This record gives sequence, structure tokens and C-alpha cells, in this order.
Amino acid sequence: MVRQGELVDEQLLDQAADRLRRAEHVCVLTGAGVSAESGVPTFRGAHGLWKGFRAEQLATPEAFASDPPLVWKFYNWRRELLADVRPNPGHTALARMETILPRFDLITQNVDGLHQAAGSRNVIELHGNLWHVRCVACSYQRQVVGEKLPAEPRCPHCGDWLRPGVVWFGELLPTDALDAARRATDACDVMLVVGTSAVVQPAALMADWARQHGAAVIEINPEATPLSSRATICLPGASGQVLPRLLDRLQPRADSPGTG
Ligand code: OAD
Repeated sequence: MVRQGELVDEQLLDQAADRLRRAEHVCVLTGAGVSAESGVPTFRGAHGLWKGFRAEQLATPEAFASDPPLVWKFYNWRRELLADVRPNPGHTALARMETILPRFDLITQNVDGLHQAAGSRNVIELHGNLWHVRCVACSYQRQVVGEKLPAEPRCPHCGDWLRPGVVWFGELLPTDALDAARRATDACDVMLVVGTSAVVQPAALMADWARQHGAAVIEINPEATPLSSRATICLPGASGQVLPRLLDRLQPRADSPGTG
């Protein structure tokens, strides 16, 4: 038996898949929601990180300047949370889409590295990466994937503090990431926005950059966001469920060239 809701859902998925299938350039923007089904906490919402912690005490340059060990405690805890976390079917579906769609850019606000772990290759990290550290004084930087760091990590070159390689509130985004995101949003004809509350700038504006160039915007999120009313199609649901269903509809294009 097909219930009314399921029918609408299927139609919306068909419409979204049709847009993706016809697109020459797809750009994706992801947020914390895409990692929620892997067990990584989101930032906002009832159980979000910013409910239990105050961002201004932990995720600003001022916080780090006044109490580096406290800030490191928070980031080392978050790194520990990631130690046993694996990509979920949403990450995997996006990695697979990259291999079957002609041009595909994935912009993420996430710092967990799960897109790369799922096999995505063209990933633009707007907010840095938890598995990256750099010195506050000299040019030293290093990838520390899966490594346990000391409680108070110091630079092996100059002895000053190492800091997490993430972007804090009040800091500029890395120029190369921002430029790459701008190029992708300006050029794409479909923009998929997945698992973000769409409130933190400049990421929150990126779907509008794409819209201004005529792109269709497809949003995947179980909740409505400030972007929803401007999206071309909203797919209300968890990305770990919706993205594989979208991917299923795209597969024939890869398996039988010429059917699209
Ligand atoms: P938020 O925590 O603000 O929003 C997470 C979004 O994911 C919400 O809109 C949820 O409805 C949605 N969501 C929850 N579960 C989901 C699921 N299974 N599938 C799909 N969506 C789901 O996270 P972001 O928008 O990523 O910045 O937050 C943006 C930035 O704010 C972060 O990068 C971080 C934070 O402060 C910095 O740390 C600089």
C-alpha cells in the first residue's frame, strides 16, 4: 500500500533526481546534519554542542588567547568523539555521486573529515579540519589524523602553542577555500544543501550565490531552515536516508550510458 506521504516523497525525489541527472555541474554544501547519523553531535538544536558549551569561551581567538588549555580540552574531547566514528550512507552516497555526475564540488562546513573518509575527493573545507594543527607563531603545521595529542600541544619548531586547524568565530575563512566555493557556486546549475541550519555566514549565503546564477537549489534537512522558502525543492528527511534514495535514481545513468 502506498500512503499519500510516501507518494509525494517519491515524486519530490524524482524531481530532484531529474534536476541532478540533467545538471552539468553540481555543487553540494554540507553541514553538521550530514554527520549526525554517524553519531557526531550537531551544533544547534535540542542536543547541539552549543547548548552545553558556550562558543565564545571555546571557539574564538580570544578564548584561546586567554585559556589555551581549556580550548584544547574541548577540541581534544571532540577529536576523541571522532575516533570511532565512521561515514554513514549519506556521506557514501555523496562520494558515489561525485563519480557518476560530470562535475561535482563538495563544500563542507564540517571539520570531521568524514566526507574524505567516505571517498569524496573534491572537498572544499570552509571551516578547516579537526585533524589538522598549526603553530600560532611560526609556519609549522601538521595533519594528526587519529593521533592523540598532549593536553597542551606545543610547536616542535618554536615552542609556542599549537592550535586546532579550524576556523573560529570572528576569524576569516581560508581564502583558497572561499575562492573555490565561490567558483563552484557561481558555475553550478544545481546546488544541493544538506544538513545545515543555514545561519552561519558566509556558508548560509552560498545557495543564494548559486540561485543568482540560475541554479536550482535542493535542500535535504528534516527541519525547515531560513533557506527552505527559497529552495527549489525541499526533501524533508535525514540525509543518511534521502541521499541513498536520490543516488539510486541516478545509477542507471552510470550503468547504461545514453539512457539519460
Ligand atoms: P547546525 O547544528 O547549526 O545545524 C545542523 C542542521 O542539520 C540542522 O538544520 C538540523 O535540522 C539538520 N539535521 C539534523 N540531523 C540531520 C540528518 N540526519 N540529516 C540531515 N540534516 C540533519 O550545524 P551547521 O549548519 O553545520 O562553525 O553549523 C554551521 C557552523 O556553526 C558549524 O560549521 C560550526 C558551527 O558553529 C564553526 O565551528 C566555525
